[in-house]
Amino acid sequence: MSGIKICVFDAYGTLFDVAAAARALAGQPEREDFAAVWQQVAADWRQKQLSYSWLRAVARDHCDFWQVTQDGLDWALERAGLQDAELREALLGLYWELEAYPEVPAMLAALKAGGLQTAILSNGSPEMLDGAVRSAGIGGDLDAVLSVEDVGIFKPDARVYDLVGARFDCAPSEVLFVSSNGWDAAFGSAYGFDTLWVNRAGEPVDRLVSQPGRVARDLTGVPEIAGVS
Ligand code: LAC
Repeated sequence: MSGIKICVFDAYGTLFDVAAAARALAGQPEREDFAAVWQQVAADWRQKQLSYSWLRAVARDHCDFWQVTQDGLDWALERAGLQDAELREALLGLYWELEAYPEVPAMLAALKAGGLQTAILSNGSPEMLDGAVRSAGIGGDLDAVLSVEDVGIFKPDARVYDLVGARFDCAPSEVLFVSSNGWDAAFGSAYGFDTLWVNRAGEPVDRLVSQPGRVARDLTGVPEIAGVS
């Protein structure tokens, strides 16, 4: 027995494939300028989006994730010399129509069939998460979609991780927390969750106060880790 009763997932980059959406946009006709630099733009966008979320948390100057998503994109587009309003709108629109990684539907269905509860715990605003969950078609296998907006501060503030216990009335040790962000998995471990870092890119482990409990390349092994495969 694993003792895991609830599987909680980060959203962007963990369940939802943001990079694939940007790559698809780069492949559209008449987007040659973007196609030449899209990987750098996507990397800068993500890094700035997260950096701004951490800085806002440290400075106690909260805004929602949609704001830092726009601010991060504006920085990335300016750096690339691509200040194009239509491209900006197209890129922002991706966040509302994301696909899940291919293994996600079967993985969530296996967890539900095994009697576990499932949730998202994300920096995303409720509106952003609602759009992505609908677009990916995974709402039927999620018991809860938890947003940091309920506590008004971004991860990795512990008040965000507290939302899981508040919703499910469970101990941290009964939770498998799954994130593609090494820092999120590390702080989840420090909080007391059992954690899985989904390290698709084979990156080095973050040097932080704690380390992810487990590491995998994708989400297929989650039901087995949770004891329900
Ligand atoms: C989230 C970001 C951190 O979904 O990926 O919370």
